[in-house]
Amino acid sequence: MTSLISNSAGALSGATVLPGDKSISHRSLLLGALAVGETAVHGLLEGEDVLNTVKAIRKLGAQAKRNEAGVWHIHGVGIGGLREPGSVIDFGNSGTGARLLLGVLAGHPITAFITGDASLCSRPMSRVTDPLSGFGARFVTREGGRLPIAVTGATDPIPITYRLQVASAQVKSAVLLAGLNAPGYTTVIEPEPTRDHTELMLRHFGAELEISEGDDGASHIRLTGHPELSGRQVVVPGDPSSAAFPAVAAAILPGSDVTLTGVGMNPRRTGLFETLIEMGADIDRRNECIEAGEPVADLRIRGGRLRGVEVPPERAPRMIDEYPILAVAAAIAKGDTVMRGVKELRVKESDRLAAVAQGLSACGVSVEEGDDYLIVHGKGCQAPGGGAVATDLDHRIAMSFLVLGAASEKPVRVDDAGPIDTSFPGFVDLMNRLGASIGGGDR
Ligand code: S3P
Repeated sequence: MTSLISNSAGALSGATVLPGDKSISHRSLLLGALAVGETAVHGLLEGEDVLNTVKAIRKLGAQAKRNEAGVWHIHGVGIGGLREPGSVIDFGNSGTGARLLLGVLAGHPITAFITGDASLCSRPMSRVTDPLSGFGARFVTREGGRLPIAVTGATDPIPITYRLQVASAQVKSAVLLAGLNAPGYTTVIEPEPTRDHTELMLRHFGAELEISEGDDGASHIRLTGHPELSGRQVVVPGDPSSAAFPAVAAAILPGSDVTLTGVGMNPRRTGLFETLIEMGADIDRRNECIEAGEPVADLRIRGGRLRGVEVPPERAPRMIDEYPILAVAAAIAKGDTVMRGVKELRVKESDRLAAVAQGLSACGVSVEEGDDYLIVHGKGCQAPGGGAVATDLDHRIAMSFLVLGAASEKPVRVDDAGPIDTSFPGFVDLMNRLGASIGGGDR
């Protein structure tokens, strides 16, 4: 385990690009593997989670090569063309990789074995295996529907209509990916909007997708089965969920002036930035454009004083990965920040409600944690800090508390910074270049 210490920092400044979007990177590999011909992916996130998806598609018969310029070239096998893998597919820490691949495999008549690290093996998988069984796929799981899982995909997949039981883009995507190899229409009914990268990319690769609003206001996403997917160019924007860490650091350190270039601005991902603006943050969007169907912009963040807010629960799916870092902003803001409707945070890479509450308490910030909510009593000034935080194999907990250290009187230590490489390789160097003071914490 690599422990790190984050010391109090002054104003941050500078401009930087972010690593590629994790969600879009996984999808570009999976659709590239199912397309006919070559897909070229520019700006793929080369973090451990995505590299595990690279290994998975290779085991299933697709080719994936990186050229010297950092562009990944994928040669797909066509829908239905994946071959049985010769060994267990290990997704490490990645719930997105595992759940989306289970969807792909549900529509292929092959058997595969999927596993992951201790965090991933504790996370619920029945949310995908239940609907995927409707296509005719069979799963053998550990108790509680957990990994490791053996899957045998359907020989003649039957298309389904499925209403999401949790607001999850991973579940939506798994069902749509399974529907690619089923005849007729596969429909996902989505009561609350979640990130739509799968829908955008399916269209980009040539699939037919119809999206309409039902009488109850839910979105009906209808995929026509057996499309001809053909290889495409994909440009992966900077990950807004990674941008969140330097953005919050800049917003809570008065005098900061930081520009983050080429950040994905899909409206289903921007809930944190909206919340920060409501808290009084100075965030400017510039150079807005669309790349491969995804909105992108540069963000300029200037530091100042924030105030606590009540986050509308219906915003949760649009910022679900950003609550740990929002809680850090809330700790420095003046007054209470109330986050409700957030019980999904209990089944992420760690139980994030518990991890955030414990970490903030250890750093002298008062919090109230409920089953489905978190209230942070903001200090309106630097946090006391001085705490030691257990990251529990969770990259976002590690990065959030390293940001808190920058705005604390005493240094904050995280016990294991290793998981940061799953989503944000180079995080410590990038933060230190902007003016943070994060270093080795081995005693
Ligand atoms: C993701 C969806 C979200 C998010 C995860 C990535 C995706 O998970 O937390 O980091 O790429 O589809 P859920 O679908 O479980 O909400």
